Amino acid sequence: MINKVAVLLVVLLFIIAALASDPDPVMDFCIAKSPDNSFSCKNSSTATVEDFTYSGIKSPGNFKQTGFSSMAVNSNVFPGLNTLGVSFVRADFGVGGVNVPHFHPRATEVAFVLEGKIYSGFVDTNNKVFAKVLEKGEVMVFPRGLVHFQMNVGDRPATILGSFDSQNPGLMRIPNAVFGSDIKEELLEKAFGLSSKELSKLKKRFSPS
Ligand SMILES: *[C@@H]1O[C@H](CO)[C@@H](O)[C@H](O)[C@H]1NC(C)=O
Repeated sequence: MINKVAVLLVVLLFIIAALASDPDPVMDFCIAKSPDNSFSCKNSSTATVEDFTYSGIKSPGNFKQTGFSSMAVNSNVFPGLNTLGVSFVRADFGVGGVNVPHFHPRATEVAFVLEGKIYSGFVDTNNKVFAKVLEKGEVMVFPRGLVHFQMNVGDRPATILGSFDSQNPGLMRIPNAVFGSDIKEELLEKAFGLSSKELSKLKKRFSPS
């Protein structure tokens, strides 16, 4: 009987672990001492309110050539988030600005349009697209791991706030992962049917600068 209960408990724990995104906290908080050692906590008796606030996204960051700026508020920049299973992003778009197709391997995202008009969507594993123009005040969810994208289709700058169910959602931009990494050129030329000239143009555009 005890054995059966134990097996059931283990199975239940596995199911819970599989459903949860980040592990559940085991303390009130665990302010990370350093981003590389995220489970070593600062002595909690030295914590202050400053450990639980972040002032780095009052204004937009640097805009990329796609007219887009994003500022992640994850546990790497805001150690107070450590073990709490949530994080945040501020994204700003110039007129026509584009957030290129990308995904977050470790989190679902809920995005709120603070200002502007954003064509926004994601693609599921059947390559079906779910996309529409979101107006100011509207919200969209991007399921974990699915490729999503946004473009400012209004005539003014736009701003989005996004929240994640992970302290460190991760970010993979498709163009950068494919053309900005060091995948063998021959493979990319074959995979995408590109000449070496076309490929070098793409590599140049998406290589880390
Ligand atoms: C945390 O700081 C308090 C006060 O300085 C100290 O008494 C305590 O031993 C420290 N705890 C740890 C685990 O270092």
